[in-house]
Amino acid sequence: MDRFLINGGKPLSGKVRVRGAKNAVLPLMAASILVQGKYELHSVPAVRDVKTMMRILGVLGIESDLSDEGILTLDSSNLTGHEAPYKLVRTMRASFEVLGPILTMLGKARVSLPGGCTIGARPVDIHLKGLQAMGADIQITQGYVEAQAEKLRGGKIFLDFPSVGATRNLMMAATLAEGETTIENAAREPEVEDLANFLNACGAQITGAGSDAIEIEGVVELRPDNYTSVPDRIEAGTFLIAAAITGGDVLVEGARREHLETLIAKLEESGVSLEIEEGGIRVSGDRKLQPSQIKTLPYPGFPTDLQPPMTALLTLAEGTSTIAESIYENRHAHVGELIRMGADIEQEGRTAIIRGVDHLSGASVMASDIRCGAGLVIAALAAEGKSEINRAYHIDRGHEKLEENLQGLGADIERVN
Ligand code: UD1
Repeated sequence: MDRFLINGGKPLSGKVRVRGAKNAVLPLMAASILVQGKYELHSVPAVRDVKTMMRILGVLGIESDLSDEGILTLDSSNLTGHEAPYKLVRTMRASFEVLGPILTMLGKARVSLPGGCTIGARPVDIHLKGLQAMGADIQITQGYVEAQAEKLRGGKIFLDFPSVGATRNLMMAATLAEGETTIENAAREPEVEDLANFLNACGAQITGAGSDAIEIEGVVELRPDNYTSVPDRIEAGTFLIAAAITGGDVLVEGARREHLETLIAKLEESGVSLEIEEGGIRVSGDRKLQPSQIKTLPYPGFPTDLQPPMTALLTLAEGTSTIAESIYENRHAHVGELIRMGADIEQEGRTAIIRGVDHLSGASVMASDIRCGAGLVIAALAAEGKSEINRAYHIDRGHEKLEENLQGLGADIERVN
């Protein structure tokens, strides 16, 4: 099993470019089920989750190839399968987003209940209620969701929570349904809007994506079109925080201010200097870090995926910070590991109370999901001495060649197995 060895304490400096967002690319890949023909997605990161989605599409009869330049060619001329198996779906929750597209294309779908990160129960009830409102008959048998609908019909759907995955699953299902669908209390994440933009480029009729009310007028078919996804705001945020904690000076190319407003506000509150430049954001962490009070929320609130990196940053602030996690009931695995590195954190329910210390010390720690892993790497970059981040495969699910990017910024990090 690969692990990272990090010798901390070196300020990061230079430039780093972020690729397309994994969280945008995965649903764009699921959308290939709806679009018959051959086309390309550009700026695709070569991360493990993308490779898992390629395998799931392969089982359905969709061919795919990812070039070294990040061009993913998809050929969905021969969609034949309607089943996404447990052994693939269990490794990644986003794979459940093939359910709506398969059902609307083929009239039936059999998709395993998902696994994914070990962060809470993460059920799929909102996805299923929405499909039922569109006329689907749904059974759960032996860990599989079995759905049938000769023809999905448009419906009025209110989401109990603005689930990102459910919004996308239902939006995709509705593109080829009969009549108009409205999704209220929809997720507003940029990756939802990106999917709508792609589907519209292929002939779908979607309005309102990016707001909390989306309308979809069903069409008869979609035609393929090449597309480039939005840059990865979570990866961009991870680099911004890494630069800030090491007191470095880094230009994150591809980082979009409009997607990172809440992070920018919180970093500035913590005394980090940020400059918006042509094509990116420059960060310099030249001042002592100040504490901050944060609550994770659906977009445009503070992103839960940046909660572990931000927790790492605030361990070194001058004073007491709090971070309340409101999206997942159990996304705190990094806290115990940060304590092993000398952090002073108390966990009260879903809130971490972080009392700043003046330094962290290198230690052997373990990543247990993508973002927890990124948080530990960030802490290790700032810690005095050597750290070992075990189970790097979690980090590889969402960050392409993280160690090479950090080496390019002057970090002392290597991958060993
Ligand atoms: C997406 C992101 C993930 C991010 C999350 C929240 C992708 C591929 N992944 O995940 O990185 O952390 O948004 O910003 O884009 N829930 C239910 N019932 C449902 C659906 C969700 O209770 O039917 C709950 C989940 O258990 C979880 C919360 O809602 O606690 C958030 O889930 P959701 O917004 O669906 O996130 P994902 O699409 O899985």
